[in-house]
Amino acid sequence: MPASVVVGTQWGDEGKGKATDYLADRMDLVVRYQGGNNAGHTILAEGHTLKLQLIPSGILYPHITSVIADGVVVDPRVLLEEMDGLAAVGVDPSRLMVSGNCHMIMPYHLELEKVTERFLGKNALGTTKRGIGPAYGDKAARIGLRIQDLFDEKIFREKLDVALREKNLVLTRVYGRLPLTVGLIVDDYMRYAERLRPHIADTSKLIHEALREGKNVLLEGAQGTMLDLDKGTYPFVTSSNPVTGYALASAGIGPREVERVIGITKAYVTRVGAGPFPTEDHGPGGERLGTLGQEFGTVTGRKRRCGWFDAVILRYAARVNGLTELFVTKLDVLSGFPTLKVCTSYRAEGETFEDVPSNQSLFHAAEPVYEELAGWDEDLTGARSIEDLPGAARAYLDRLADLVGVPISVVSVGPGREQSLPAA
Ligand code: IMP
Repeated sequence: MPASVVVGTQWGDEGKGKATDYLADRMDLVVRYQGGNNAGHTILAEGHTLKLQLIPSGILYPHITSVIADGVVVDPRVLLEEMDGLAAVGVDPSRLMVSGNCHMIMPYHLELEKVTERFLGKNALGTTKRGIGPAYGDKAARIGLRIQDLFDEKIFREKLDVALREKNLVLTRVYGRLPLTVGLIVDDYMRYAERLRPHIADTSKLIHEALREGKNVLLEGAQGTMLDLDKGTYPFVTSSNPVTGYALASAGIGPREVERVIGITKAYVTRVGAGPFPTEDHGPGGERLGTLGQEFGTVTGRKRRCGWFDAVILRYAARVNGLTELFVTKLDVLSGFPTLKVCTSYRAEGETFEDVPSNQSLFHAAEPVYEELAGWDEDLTGARSIEDLPGAARAYLDRLADLVGVPISVVSVGPGREQSLPAA
């Protein structure tokens, strides 16, 4: 049985959790493959609203094994809090499996990110301040601590000692902060170790065996293509790779296992944090999208920047991820606009770009070229099939699929499961 990938096509917050939820019935394993507790989705469990940042939302289904694969950076304190939150509302977290190869977010990562973002001043990236960049930085520099290090206190202490020697010099001499002590960190992390032990597994083998047994595996990304460290709007990106290619590296499977690559896209665009956003609307249109779409970050509560659908970045996302289909979310938010703008290309330095310009300065200078489509007034939230949508809404969807060159398989018109409408 094949694997499917759920990938964000914009700057994150496209509604990936919703797609996972929609597909959950047919899945046996749901695997989170990158990022950390910088992502977040709100879920409704047993009548309670929960915010999950690390654990895939598949945890709500008793038939699903939830997996955190190698490429995720894990703050063990946050992970345990999430597990406790689930248990408190009657959701059993025992089917969560975590790779021992995951790198951990350490207290000095949080501390360092706070001071470096401050140091950058007006050039700050606007990160979520969860220690994501510093943790991935240490991974690449090969001085990171992995979850498996927790299970040998001597090794853990030695590695921590090496890392802290350098971190404390930076914290105290460069940023005038107090040093962190090895002992306190060891005490905390050894407590985490005991609780995490039953959840640690060789997740690559687990996923491989599930596929061999004919089970369905969903690989779930966090953030989105335009926040990808290599393929996004560097340096205004996250420190991992949300694109499909990394799903394979993190899960530890080959490309031939993947059958579907589902690109999640909002019917408009949002972005949190700094960086270029050609279709951003600073006027009443953007304001209205933000209000009706309740565009506030799940993790930081920050107001999201809002703008119009951008077919240029979607074509790019289709290309770099190998999308087989699109899952369009939040179409209901567009009701009531007399016309809807859709960006079909960019203009920069006198040239027209049908694709994302590969040069950063050109992308910063990109002006959207819009096409205006007819809007509709009807409330879409009651639609239960594509046929229930007004003609203008269907024409809007047809035009998006045409511009991107990828078929739309599902359209959602609200947070409920019954509001995800199969389109093909
Ligand atoms: P970091 O991932 O915390 O290092 O933040 C880097 C950039 O990615 C910032 O602009 C964040 O706002 C953005 N970012 C990180 N995670 C998310 C997410 O889940 N949704 C939207 N933006 C995100």
